[in-house]
Amino acid sequence: MKIFLDTANLDEIREIAAWGILSGVTTNPSLLAKEQGADFRETIAEICRLVNGPVSAEVIATDVPGVLAEAREYAAWHPNVVVKIPLTPNGISAVSILAREGIKTNVTLCFSANQALLAALAGATFVSPFVGRLDDISEDGMALIRDIVKIFRNYAYIKTHVLAASIRHPRHLVEAALAGADVATVPTAVLKQAIKHPLTDAGLEKFLSDWNKRSTNHANPRERLENSRGFAKIRG
Ligand code: E4P
Repeated sequence: MKIFLDTANLDEIREIAAWGILSGVTTNPSLLAKEQGADFRETIAEICRLVNGPVSAEVIATDVPGVLAEAREYAAWHPNVVVKIPLTPNGISAVSILAREGIKTNVTLCFSANQALLAALAGATFVSPFVGRLDDISEDGMALIRDIVKIFRNYAYIKTHVLAASIRHPRHLVEAALAGADVATVPTAVLKQAIKHPLTDAGLEKFLSDWNKRSTNHANPRERLENSRGFAKIRG
């Protein structure tokens, strides 16, 4: 399963991109609105410079001509831009037209398997089922991911990728991977929780303290390396 970062914050994207595990970024109007004063186009362009993979930019229009106009404009900004379109009848109509034009789309606000199937049939590149928001209303968000993955696998002609969205905690990440989601888009805080384990921290602390207690006539790895280079020079 690939991991996208679910944020419009450039500092967060820079920090997590340095881990070398990011395959893309998703933004939405709420995430962009948090970045007060940032220009939408420049933010998307900068994200495309930081991460070499799909970068979702969401339309604001809700009518077909409006969605098409915004989508064509965003798609011209950078080849990695994926136009994020809400799952409405107008949105689906626009997705089918954009698919024929070769414009990549991420159909967002998906809350049912039927909606996902329709997005796939329209030719969406990604469909984003919102796991956390379903959990919030006492439904089983991850069951939706499992259903969609199963349905899409039944039909070889469906090429749409399942993008697990609205991820709220590290367990969601594990379950999305077990369910076979193609991608999970994850907030920075959740990725930072996911990389940590108290036994890793305790284990590292013990390794380092044991190492520091060693007898001083053993060279540390760096000293050993430098010594061996010295010998190589003498031998050479
Ligand atoms: C990403 O594509 C979605 O917009 C995002 O994951 C929604 O997450 P939220 O439900 O935590 O706002």
